[in-house]
Amino acid sequence: MATAAEARAKYDRIADRYEEIFFYVGDVGARLAAFAGPPPGARALDVGAGRGAVARALLARGCAVTAIDASPEMVARLAADHPELTARTMDAAAPDFPDATFDLVTAGFVVQVLDDPAAVLAQVRRMLVPGGTIALSLERQSVGRLSWLQELSVEFFSPGSPAEPAPEPSPGTGPMDAEGLDSLLTEAGFTGLAREEIEMPLPLDGPEALWEWLQPRGGTELVAALGERAGEFHARFLDGARTMGEDGGITLDFAATLHRAHRPG
Ligand SMILES: C[S@@+](CC[C@H](N)C(=O)[O-])C[C@H]1O[C@@H](n2cnc3c(N)ncnc32)[C@H](O)[C@@H]1O
Repeated sequence: MATAAEARAKYDRIADRYEEIFFYVGDVGARLAAFAGPPPGARALDVGAGRGAVARALLARGCAVTAIDASPEMVARLAADHPELTARTMDAAAPDFPDATFDLVTAGFVVQVLDDPAAVLAQVRRMLVPGGTIALSLERQSVGRLSWLQELSVEFFSPGSPAEPAPEPSPGTGPMDAEGLDSLLTEAGFTGLAREEIEMPLPLDGPEALWEWLQPRGGTELVAALGERAGEFHARFLDGARTMGEDGGITLDFAATLHRAHRPG
């Protein structure tokens, strides 16, 4: 969870390659726009728009799209790539649009990075017309079969820290899950909740393919920072990756949920 200032610092740094690193956001953005189902001409606001995974799908459906993001780098690229939408740098917790401005508000993979998602949902409700729609996507958090990599990373990148499993979060303090998001929507006064599950398995050929896949996603910089221990890390990485697939193949299990609800009419 991050404040708008923290989000700005984090996402400014990766704005140039964001959709290469998070390869699935384009597909999920298109599915979220279809799930929201706006009629052509609907006035849509995409919150935390990033490079436009959801916004461009809304444009393709004939919506009049406004997109906001805390990261000026994201907004600059979004405006350059899609001059047909209105792009603004803005904190989702303090948007300056009048009440009842939009027929639809979307947010793809945003609620889980906000430090106060309830405050943002209250703003969304305010900006929607009565009967308007909110549509959100949420990544399903599962370190699961990659827990070996988390432990290996702690060992190499946090010297002195024992690679202990993370403690169980106290109730209500862990990463947001689908039930938690639906509860927040209900508490914010939305009705008519609907949810859809998405599975996005990514099959890879084996341990070396997993290594190659991680390189453009921050792996190259991390390993370079290890200096003379880089070779040892590579060997241990391949050992760990071999534990994931008995037949040599590895599937990364990305998954998400889509959520839709309405401001009461
Ligand atoms: C995980 S990215 C999702 C981007 C895009 N919606 C997608 O589906 O690819 C989260 C985005 O939310 C933005 N963000 C985070 N906190 C924000 C805030 N408080 N106000 C506005 N945008 C925020 C980040 O800058 C980032 O672009």
